Amino acid sequence: MSTHPTRIAPSLLAADFSCLAQQIDRVEQAGADWLHLDVMDGRFVPNISFGIPILESIRPKTRLFFDVHLMIVDPQPYLAPFKDAGANSLTIHIETCPQPTSILREIRAMDLQCGLVLNPSTPVETLFPFLGELDLVLVMSVEPGFGGQSFQPQALQKVEALRDEIERQAIHLPIQIDGGVNPQNATSCRSAGVSILVAGSAVFRAEDPSRAIADLRT
Ligand code: DX5
Ligand code: ZN
Repeated sequence: MSTHPTRIAPSLLAADFSCLAQQIDRVEQAGADWLHLDVMDGRFVPNISFGIPILESIRPKTRLFFDVHLMIVDPQPYLAPFKDAGANSLTIHIETCPQPTSILREIRAMDLQCGLVLNPSTPVETLFPFLGELDLVLVMSVEPGFGGQSFQPQALQKVEALRDEIERQAIHLPIQIDGGVNPQNATSCRSAGVSILVAGSAVFRAEDPSRAIADLRT
């Protein structure tokens, strides 16, 4: 079990986009810790979601931490615009930035938290040289691009390998997981070493989001 505080980060991708402010308020009242924002460009992933103007519009509506997951081929030119739009953390894919040190330092120099994420098919060891540069490390438990997919349990082996490597490097780094997370698999995620649970459908589509968040937490 991780020693980091457990955080629940509902993914806005699963919200009803016709009333975003209300939807965000609902999960904030329900006890969400962060809001996870999935930015997709139709090139790195085969889907287009939303970007800077949406962040700008929702920023004044909530106090939730904006955890921005950038699924875009060339994130560097967009770092400052996302910061200006209200991001609190920016997570980039190792597949788009195989040598991420300078971009990670750029994110931190802007006073944002930075994260690095990998797809299900990418070996977890590719992240090891960069763990010391990060505020969070994210493991995808589905192919990125769409919400509502089934959790891939193989992701837990990556989480365990990361947990061991983080311990070996004697650093302090929370592990996040994203894709198909629900109250049924949350316990195995947390025992493997996850402390930040992203959940789209399980929270936004729940009849009782407070209950869903409480169930994910315990
Ligand atoms: C997938 C996104 C996820 C997704 C999670 O590309 O990164 O954040 O929205 O949604 P659920 O929890 O429904 O799988
Ligand atoms: Zn995501």
